[in-house]
Amino acid sequence: MKTSFTHASAPVILGTPLSANATKVMLLGSGELGKEVIISLQRLGVEVIAVDRYPNAPGHQVAHRAHVIDMTDGVALAELIAREQPDLIVPEIEAIATQTLVELENAGKIRVIPTARATWLTMNREGIRRLVAEELNLPTSPYQFADTREEMRAACTTIGYPCIVKPVMSSSGKGQSRVNSAAEVDAAWDYAASGGRVQNGRVIVEGFIDFEYEITLLTVRAIGSNGQTETHFCAPIGHVQVHGDYVESWQPQIMHPDALKNAQLIAQKVTDNLGGLGLFGVELFVNNDMVWFSEVSPRPHDTGMVTMASQVQNEFELHAKAILGLPVDTSLRCPAASAVIYGQHNAPAIAFEGLAEALAEPGTDIRLFGKPESFERRRMGVALATAADTDTARVKAKAAAAKVKPVIR
Ligand SMILES: Nc1ncnc2c1ncn2[C@@H]1O[C@H](COP(=O)(O)OP(=O)(O)O)[C@@H](O)[C@H]1O
Ligand SMILES: [Mg+2]
Repeated sequence: MKTSFTHASAPVILGTPLSANATKVMLLGSGELGKEVIISLQRLGVEVIAVDRYPNAPGHQVAHRAHVIDMTDGVALAELIAREQPDLIVPEIEAIATQTLVELENAGKIRVIPTARATWLTMNREGIRRLVAEELNLPTSPYQFADTREEMRAACTTIGYPCIVKPVMSSSGKGQSRVNSAAEVDAAWDYAASGGRVQNGRVIVEGFIDFEYEITLLTVRAIGSNGQTETHFCAPIGHVQVHGDYVESWQPQIMHPDALKNAQLIAQKVTDNLGGLGLFGVELFVNNDMVWFSEVSPRPHDTGMVTMASQVQNEFELHAKAILGLPVDTSLRCPAASAVIYGQHNAPAIAFEGLAEALAEPGTDIRLFGKPESFERRRMGVALATAADTDTARVKAKAAAAKVKPVIR
């Protein structure tokens, strides 16, 4: 019998990979986050097809089949989906022809995780921001959109300084800058134009939130024992971002009880609206008991890599189980932290020294992603550490990351 995921409440049946009854999952994007989702799916005997824009991506190396296509090309994407006939499509990145996914899902031909609409709404900052602020009426920074340098100048004046400018389609802080005065508007516009995914130049101007700390609230929509979708929250993850890119994270982040309640309420409303099954990374800014929504990933989050050390089931396993319709356990195992290991070189096939030294400290672990090419600021690995408290875990994770030396040899 062919496995089917058409009805979320039907009993889950998983087949045998590489056979007629295989349960097939296609990853769109196969970086370090996709790689871990694939490993979790492999453990359940799921047949995995990994897709990325370049060969030998981290996820390609652990999947049953690997494909290289331009995922923003709707025709190429539809052709590959038709050929592979996956039961589920799991986007790992934002830069995908999401309109094609929406059309195919509406036609009943595919099932996208969590839903095609969610991937479409979140690939563009405008879609998710308008939904959350204008329809759901949840607190966000003040914002305005602009298409030209002059519009952006006017928007900055309206929003006030300092403000943050971001291309509407970008990730990992690309093209994003803080604008402190009118004199910095031109540079911010030029930088945004260079960092966006598509060259239409549209930007969002956001009021600067002077937050005390920021968190990712991993939120899981999974089928409960009564057959209905339930929402589960992981303990909040604190993180530090440099130039809009994550450098370290820890779990749990201690919060004012009202702030935690507000954070969960916001995450619940946003994920209820986005729907479907799977794990979401809800990014929030916090000041005392006040919480602002920033953005959401309808998939595992880079700051959530800490859960590989801190949770009973890490975020990748939670995603894999939830999308298959299986129950999840979001409980914390112990305080932990993660620290990013950067490439430091612009070169293919680099090597890593200092691993034994890094791992000599008890409660320390390392993941190297196996990316075929290194860039100076490319994330090539992550150090993980557990400890009695997150402050100690952060020190340990950073020390371990610093011991790992990317070299050319
Ligand atoms: N309005 C804002 N006020 C203060 N800091 C911000 C604001 N927007 C973004 N940031 C900082 O920049 C980081 C990256 O921004 P984000 O919108 O999450 O971009 P990306 O999609 O590239 O992750 C945030 O995690 C936060 O540290
Ligand atoms: Mg972000």
